[in-house]
Amino acid sequence: DSRPLAATPPMGWNNWAHYMCDISEQTVVHNADALVSKGLAAKGYNTLTVDDCWMTKSRNSAGELVADPARFPHGMAWLGDYLHARGLKFGIYEDAGSSTCGGYPGSGQPQGGGPDHFAQDAATFASWGVDYLKLDGCNLYVAPGQTKEAAYRQAYDAEAAALADVGRDIVFSESAPAYFQTGEWGNPGWFSVLSWVGKDGQLWREGYDIATYDPNKPGTSRWSSVLTNYGYNRWIGRYAGPGNWNDPDFVLAGAPGLTADESRSQVALWSMMAAPLILSSDVAALSPAGLAALGNTALVSIDQDGLGRQAGVVSTNGTTDVLARPLANGDRAVAVLNRASSARTISTTLDSIGLPGCKVSAKDLWSGASSTTSSALTATVPAHGTAIWRLTPNGGCAPAVPTGQVTGNGA
Ligand code: GLA
Ligand code: GLA
Repeated sequence: DSRPLAATPPMGWNNWAHYMCDISEQTVVHNADALVSKGLAAKGYNTLTVDDCWMTKSRNSAGELVADPARFPHGMAWLGDYLHARGLKFGIYEDAGSSTCGGYPGSGQPQGGGPDHFAQDAATFASWGVDYLKLDGCNLYVAPGQTKEAAYRQAYDAEAAALADVGRDIVFSESAPAYFQTGEWGNPGWFSVLSWVGKDGQLWREGYDIATYDPNKPGTSRWSSVLTNYGYNRWIGRYAGPGNWNDPDFVLAGAPGLTADESRSQVALWSMMAAPLILSSDVAALSPAGLAALGNTALVSIDQDGLGRQAGVVSTNGTTDVLARPLANGDRAVAVLNRASSARTISTTLDSIGLPGCKVSAKDLWSGASSTTSSALTATVPAHGTAIWRLTPNGGCAPAVPTGQVTGNGA
């Protein structure tokens, strides 16, 4: 099979934004069972990743990482088996520095320099049946005279080499670009890091953490956090393609703090951006609207489209964004975000989305209704909502974008 690892954006679940360090075997099992029973696993949400705080504060006498026996009483190999037996995949968190963001042992060089643990830890993960590694970027040692970027590149290259040696396909999620993000547009170093991460791994966090759940303020809006991460991720589609994905962080749809329309919007925007769909919530407790959006197969197939082209920004202003992306079969997906706090009727023309002179059949992916137009798409979009259509050209059009023209990093 010549398809790259993660030929389409990874999908699944991670505990961090909901449980943070309150992680255990029981929590992973509970959410794995919920992904299966709610029907989400069958729709592709299949990789469960244990984030920070899973290990003991020090390595064993052989220098190996040890799962915290109070949190993971049966051990990590058992957890891998539990997931694999249900057709799911096992993801784990580590860090490229001397310690994780939460202060647990990292795979990288100690502060002051010295031997790293990349090869040893990759072998440990493979022995546990790990399928996906999220390698964070806290606490990297930068040697005298070395640039910060060179230190990150050395560490992420080392992990990629270690993973290539373990005899098991392990999807590699890198956090390096997130440590070079200093604003919505990043900085020059950010773009430089984005230009090499695709050689090492399949996806990368490139910005801020999505807002975590605060049980003391369950009603707190997390919408502004979704918009912030969408805000920078939408510009960097040139780095995405099959086997290489920008990761604007977790999907909160259906979790506390987002309205039904905000939940729908996040799924639509992440799908347009070919973003990983990694839920971070209590899956058993997802709201009905969130669950329906996440399970909307017309939307999931936009996210997972084989052409792997992240949407471009057609237009953006204080109230309205229009995004469009070509799809493998010659169709096109179009989304219209209403940033305003009241419903608005919004139109966008076929001209503006690069289909001048076309006649299209437009399927509204929320209602499932189709209509035909050769001029404009119009929808009444709720506050913070997103209209999304799949357009099938049926006459008058310029040739569709050929399939397979985007490969690897940064076409
Ligand atoms: C960083 C990452 C988060 C999470 C925490 C864990 O903040 O960006 O996604 O992994 O570390 O400590
Ligand atoms: C926006 C920003 C620019 C640049 C581009 C990225 O237009 O204003 O600085 O970052 O996005 O393509």
